[in-house]
Amino acid sequence: MKYSIGIILLIITGCINKTPSRDTPKVIIDPNPTSEMAQQMREMSKELEAIKIKLEKNETLGQNLLNFELIHHQQVTDSSFNKPHIEPMSIAYDYAVEEFNKDPSIKNYSSIINNCSSCHQLSCQGPLVKINKLMIKSL
Ligand code: HEC
Repeated sequence: MKYSIGIILLIITGCINKTPSRDTPKVIIDPNPTSEMAQQMREMSKELEAIKIKLEKNETLGQNLLNFELIHHQQVTDSSFNKPHIEPMSIAYDYAVEEFNKDPSIKNYSSIINNCSSCHQLSCQGPLVKINKLMIKSL
């Protein structure tokens, strides 16, 4: 039972490579030590969620709303995340963010989310559930 809770946690929080120790009796709220990159991912998710709501309400957005550090410059939780695709995909993601900053349209927003998704297909698939929720379904 404890083991399956561990597995569920792994699925929900995504990018964890180490199974939380089963002997420690404390409640594990966040089994990942928060790396710079994980922290940035959470902030990006939050900001994009707020933008999604505005876009869905057809609110007009200003320019230059997003300002993220380059993903591949961030420290990761586990060196196994440092895979060769990270840098090119981080650059592609940054490009999509810049395009959105110039023209905050639903199309450019969707291109950001597609970039999240592509990198996560290769990096860690847990957050894909969260990322899919950020997609705007009806264009
Ligand atoms: C260039 C590759 C890349 C892109 C683009 C990317 N991610 Fe990530 N993401 C990662 C990696 C690698 C991790 C694991 C980081 C760590 O734990 O150190 C991660 C972790 C996460 C996490 C888990 C953070 C936590 O709390 O542990 C979430 C949620 C997430 N990403 C959401 C997103 C969203 C939303 C986007 C788009 C706005 C996005 N990611 C774009 C590579 C990427």
